[in-house]
Amino acid sequence: MKTIYLVSFIAFFVAQSQAFKFTRCGLVRELRRQGFPEDKMRDWVCLIEHESGRRTNIVGPRNKNGSFDYGLFQINDGLWCNNSTTPGKGCHVTCSELLTDDITKACTCAKRIFKIQGFLAWYGWRNHCQHPGDLPDISMC
Ligand SMILES: *[C@@H]1O[C@H](CO)[C@@H](O)[C@H](O)[C@H]1NC(C)=O
Ligand SMILES: *[C@@H]1O[C@H](CO)[C@@H](O)[C@H](O)[C@H]1NC(C)=O
Ligand SMILES: *[C@@H]1O[C@H](CO)[C@@H](O)[C@H](O)[C@H]1NC(C)=O
Repeated sequence: MKTIYLVSFIAFFVAQSQAFKFTRCGLVRELRRQGFPEDKMRDWVCLIEHESGRRTNIVGPRNKNGSFDYGLFQINDGLWCNNSTTPGKGCHVTCSELLTDDITKACTCAKRIFKIQGFLAWYGWRNHCQHPGDLPDISMC
């Protein structure tokens, strides 16, 4: 009996944590821990806020070309992650690995995309974060 309670207790928290949403400063702390440079921090926060609303587990609506975007950085399955069980494509991951609470793999992939394409790879950044006045205030973080 006790074991069953413990199991459902743990299962509840696992389910909860899969719907994780960062606060703005929580996100900044985590991005610092993941080694994102301070001089582009506001750009990354802006990008993430417009792409995913700081949620780790969201899959975007189907794009016109039939692809989907995954997780905090809304990374595309046409190019970067395999929408199946074997890690693959540009970031050598499965798309579901980009939806977890532990954002290490998503961050590694986002840095790789950035290295190749820059911030222009993300419509969220292109459309909402190009002007310095657009960038979020993180001075309290
Ligand atoms: C499909 O469209 C999405 C969103 O517009 C874009 O990010 C992605 O690069 C495209 N994928 C391919 C394989 O062209
Ligand atoms: C990718 O996954 C979605 C659900 O997340 C599914 O509906 C879609 O058919 C898959 N796309 C491809 C190209 O396999
Ligand atoms: C994606 O995963 C499927 C299923 O394991 C595999 O057959 C396929 O080759 C993988 N695709 C890529 C591009 O790695």
